[in-house]
Amino acid sequence: MSRTVLITGATGTVSTALMKALDGAEVDLRALVREESRADGLRERGAEVVVGDLDDARSLPPAFEGVQDLWLLTPNGPRAPEHNMNAVWAARQAGVERVVRLSVVGAAHDAPNRSGRLHALSDRETERCGLRWTILRPHWFMQNLLNEAGDISATGTFSLNLASARIGMIDVRDIAECAARVLLDDPDRHHGETYTLTGPRSLTFDEVADQLGHALGRSITYLPVSDDAKRKTLLGYGVPAWIVDMLEEYARAYASGWGDLTTDTVAGLLGHPPRDLADFARDHAAAFTLRHLPSI
Ligand SMILES: NC(=O)c1ccc[n+]([C@@H]2O[C@H](COP(=O)([O-])OP(=O)(O)OC[C@H]3O[C@@H](n4cnc5c(N)ncnc54)[C@H](OP(=O)(O)O)[C@@H]3O)[C@@H](O)[C@H]2O)c1
Repeated sequence: MSRTVLITGATGTVSTALMKALDGAEVDLRALVREESRADGLRERGAEVVVGDLDDARSLPPAFEGVQDLWLLTPNGPRAPEHNMNAVWAARQAGVERVVRLSVVGAAHDAPNRSGRLHALSDRETERCGLRWTILRPHWFMQNLLNEAGDISATGTFSLNLASARIGMIDVRDIAECAARVLLDDPDRHHGETYTLTGPRSLTFDEVADQLGHALGRSITYLPVSDDAKRKTLLGYGVPAWIVDMLEEYARAYASGWGDLTTDTVAGLLGHPPRDLADFARDHAAAFTLRHLPSI
């Protein structure tokens, strides 16, 4: 009998890639969404959709009923540990067997950023929840570069407050494939494991610009900017202050060399190396290219 996997964060970047990675596998997918209006695309993917909110513990039991495996992704924000707690408790009450949790690279009680410290709280809770568990700690997503696509397509430049940071950035598709591997393997196989997932190389943003330029066939330039300048831009786009503060903490840590690491964990799990930035750039070239507006 196939297992039912409950997907949280189902409309977001990682979980969307995970559902794609699980396409055709012998599992029943169930997606948790906050709003019924987000359900159509997920149903088209063959998922059963249940409405619930990680903010609201009382809304969760119907989504967890009959589930064997929980893919637990908590959105960034100060309430992330509460979201994890609500999901883990609902899982325990429903008799879920295994939780596979998305954490973050360097999660620790003394991490130099609030996201790493909050994830550490939820990692500890997950390790002690009494279910089988696996924790994935991915590095900086290559897909974060899509936030710069507007500037890149319009001006051939992108501005980050990351100085000359080197980062072992990873393609989200590799995170998703590792998560799928864990979920499709026997629940005992990865129980108690914490996997730090990175791309194949640690890159500076000048190197990222070169790779993007190569894929796009035009010159792309990285413009390092100050924390204050980036803060002003992000706040101007309406990014919440808590997230802006969190991103600044990461930027400072990365600029000081904190993100300069790679592991061979993805290759160990998948049996082939993770995607390079050149792969990401080639596969996403259209997103970095100005769309032609229809003439009026
Ligand atoms: N970006 C990076 O470089 C990086 C690196 C390592 C780890 N991470 C971790 O990755 C996670 C974010 O993953 P992502 O980028 O895939 O997320 P995302 O694209 O921002 O999507 C967040 C998802 O969470 C859902 N959500 C938000 N609030 C919710 C609530 N109260 N109850 C239920 N669902 C809720 C959203 O649903 P709606 O459609 O309803 O909004 C959406 O599906 C974070 O934990 C972050 O720390 C990020």
